[in-house]
Amino acid sequence: MKMKFSWNITSALWGSIGLLALAQADNSTYYNPTLPGWHSDPSCAQVNGTFFCVTSTFISFPGLPVYASKDLLDWKLVSHVWNRESQLPGVSWETPGQQDGMYAATIRYHEGEFYVICEYLGISSRGIVGVVFRTTDPFSDASWSDPVTFAPSSIDPDLFWDDDDDGKVYVATQGVVLQEIDLATGALSQPPVSLWNGTGGAWPEGPHLYKKDGYYYLMIAEGGTELDHSITIARSRNITGPYESYEHNPILTNRGTAEYFQTVGHGDLFQDPAGNWWGMCLATRIGPAREVYPMGREAVLFAATWDEGAWPVLQPVRGAMSGWALPPRSRDIPGDGPFNSDDDVYDFAAGTAIPRNLVHWRVPREGTFSVTGGGLEIVPSRNNLTGTPLSTSTPELSGQSGLAFIGRRQTDTLFSFSVDLSFAPEVVGQEAGVTVFLTQVNHIDLGVVLLEPDAISPAPRAEPQLALRFRAEGGAGGPPAPNTVPVPAEWAGSPIRLQIETANVTHYSLAAMAASDPESQIIVGTASAALVSGGNGSFVGSLVGAYATCNGAGTGVDCPEGGTAHFGRWRYTGVAQYIAADESIPKARG
Ligand SMILES: *[C@@H]1O[C@H](CO)[C@@H](O)[C@H](O)[C@H]1NC(C)=O
Ligand SMILES: *[C@@H]1O[C@H](CO)[C@@H](O)[C@H](O)[C@H]1NC(C)=O
Ligand SMILES: *[C@@H]1O[C@H](CO)[C@@H](O)[C@H](O)[C@H]1NC(C)=O
Ligand SMILES: *[C@@H]1O[C@H](CO)[C@@H](O)[C@H](O)[C@H]1NC(C)=O
Ligand SMILES: *[C@@H]1O[C@H](CO)[C@@H](O)[C@H](O)[C@H]1NC(C)=O
Ligand SMILES: *[C@@H]1O[C@H](CO)[C@@H](O)[C@H](O)[C@H]1NC(C)=O
Ligand SMILES: *[C@@H]1O[C@H](CO)[C@@H](O)[C@H](O)[C@H]1NC(C)=O
Repeated sequence: MKMKFSWNITSALWGSIGLLALAQADNSTYYNPTLPGWHSDPSCAQVNGTFFCVTSTFISFPGLPVYASKDLLDWKLVSHVWNRESQLPGVSWETPGQQDGMYAATIRYHEGEFYVICEYLGISSRGIVGVVFRTTDPFSDASWSDPVTFAPSSIDPDLFWDDDDDGKVYVATQGVVLQEIDLATGALSQPPVSLWNGTGGAWPEGPHLYKKDGYYYLMIAEGGTELDHSITIARSRNITGPYESYEHNPILTNRGTAEYFQTVGHGDLFQDPAGNWWGMCLATRIGPAREVYPMGREAVLFAATWDEGAWPVLQPVRGAMSGWALPPRSRDIPGDGPFNSDDDVYDFAAGTAIPRNLVHWRVPREGTFSVTGGGLEIVPSRNNLTGTPLSTSTPELSGQSGLAFIGRRQTDTLFSFSVDLSFAPEVVGQEAGVTVFLTQVNHIDLGVVLLEPDAISPAPRAEPQLALRFRAEGGAGGPPAPNTVPVPAEWAGSPIRLQIETANVTHYSLAAMAASDPESQIIVGTASAALVSGGNGSFVGSLVGAYATCNGAGTGVDCPEGGTAHFGRWRYTGVAQYIAADESIPKARG
C-alpha cells in the first residue's frame, strides 16, 4: 500500500492523471474491527464532526455505551445511556435470562438532542419494554434522561423524523413494521404498517430508515445474526410503502465465504463532515475451525458510496480495509472514559471512581464495589459466578440480585490480564479471583479460596486451608477438570497476583504468583476459548475481570462476615489482533 501511495503522489505531481490519482492516493487504509471486543448491533450518528455509536449490552450494567470518535478509528467511551437503577426500577433483577436485557439500539440527533431508542427483553410480566432516552450532553452519564417507555410490536426499534411530513416521528421494528410514536408519551399509532418482509432471509430486523434524493431507504439485517447474516435494502417514495427491493441484495454479507470475519450484518450508515458515507455493522472473527470466537460480535467500519438517486454500495468487510480518506487522527474528545482500544492501568487510588469501562452482570447490590485505601473492594455475593438454577425457593442464589463480578471486554485476540489480590478469608467457601466470563454458564475462573482441612488430599490437617482453585463452567464437551493446589506457605500475608493470559489464539492460561515474586508463578489451569464462544452466550462476548463469593454460605442474600476482597494493580494489556486466520497485527499501532 505504501508503494502504491507514493507512486500516485508522484504521478499526480507529474500532472498526468492528476485528480483521479490524487483521489486514490487520498483513500485510507485501516484495520477492522474498529471497535474490537463485544460490540454488537452498532448504530451511529455524526454530529458536528464527532461520530457517536451505541452498541447492544443485554443484561450487563451499566449498559448501552456511547463511544465517540473524530477519526472513526479511536473510539472513546463517553457515557452509558443506561447507568442508574432508577432509570428502570427493579427491571434488572427481574430478568432471569443470560441474553435478555437491552437489545439493539438506535442513536439519532435531532434539534439539539441525542436520542437512544432501544427495547428491554426478558421480564415475563411486561413483554417487550420499549425505551427512549435523551440528552443534550452525551459526554455525561447523569445527563441521560429516565426513559419514556412504549410497547413496541417487536424488537430493534429505529427512530426516524420525517422532516417533509410535519416532522412526524416513526419507529420501525423487526418484521419490518412502522408506527408513529409520540416521544412525550410513548404512544404508538395502530395498527403497525408492514413495510417490507425482506428478501426471504430469516429475521428481517435491525431496520434503519434514511431519506435521500426523494426516496425513503429502508436498510435491514437478514438471515439471523449467525453465518447467514447480511444487510439488504429497499426504497419507496412514500414512507409507508410500497417498498421496492434492490435487485442486487444483499448489499453486504460474508455468508458462504471462508472469510475470517463472518456474521457480517446489522449496520447503520452515516456521513463524515466531508460528505462521504460510511457504515458500521457487526462481525465475528471466527477462526477456520469456527469454534473459537470469545469476543463474539464486534463492530466493524466500512466505506459506502451512495451517489444521487442510486443505491448505496458498501465495501466488503475484511481485516485490512480501504475507503474514503479518514478525518485526521484526533483524541480530542471530552469526558473521562478510556478509549476502547487502550490498555487498563488501574491502581485504584483511594477516592477515585471505578473506571468507566468496567461493567457488571445485572445491576450490582449497593455497596458491593468501592474504591478504598486497599484498592478495588468487592464485598462477596452469596451466589458464585454460576449461581444456582433459578427456582422460586432460592431466588437469591440465581445471581439475579447482585453478582459480585466486575470486568472489562476482552478487546484483543491475544492479551494479558492480572490483578493483585489481598484477601484474608475466615469462613470455608469464601473465595475471590479472576475470570473470563461470557455468561453464568460459561466462565473460566481462578480463585483463592478457603477450603475444608481435608479438601486437598492427601494432606489432612486440622485447620481450613487456603488454596488456588481453577474451575470452569460450560463448553460443548463439558469444562476441563477443576484443579486445586495449596497456596504456598511463603506467600502468606502478602498480595497474590492472579493472571489470565492467552496461551495462544485458542487457549487461556490461568496462573498465580506472589505479587512480589513473579518467578514463583504456578500455572493452575488452561482452558479452551471455545468454552466462552457462542453456545449459551451467542449474543454476548467475553469479559475479563474479578469476583468475590462465599459459594452459598450464609443466609438470605448475605454471606457470613468477612471475606471482603481487595484488588490492586489491575492491568489489561493487548498484545495482538488477528485480522485473518494466519495474520495478526501488533497492538501498538499509534
Ligand atoms: C476510494 O474509496 C471509495 C469508498 O470505498 C471507493 O468507492 C473508491 O472507488 C475508492 N477510490 C479509489 C480510487 O480507489
Ligand atoms: C459545533 O461545533 C461548533 C464549533 O466547535 C460549536 O460552536 C457548536 O456549538 C457545535 N454544535 C453542536 C450542536 O455541538
Ligand atoms: C409481510 O408478510 C406478512 C405476513 O405474511 C403480510 O401480512 C404482509 O402483508 C407482508 N408485508 C409486505 C409489505 O409485503
Ligand atoms: C403515501 O401512502 C399513504 C397511505 O397509503 C397515502 O395516504 C399517501 O397519499 C401516500 N403519499 C404519497 C406521497 O404517495
Ligand atoms: C495452545 O495452548 C494450549 C494450552 O497451553 C495447548 O494445550 C495447545 O496445544 C496450544 N495450541 C497450539 C496450536 O499451540
Ligand atoms: C444452555 O443451553 C442449553 C442448550 O441449548 C439449554 O438447554 C440451557 O437451558 C441453556 N442454559 C441457560 C442457563 O440458558
Ligand atoms: C457455585 O456454587 C454452587 C453451590 O451454590 C456449587 O454447586 C457450584 O459448584 C459452584 N460453581 C462454581 C463454578 O463456583
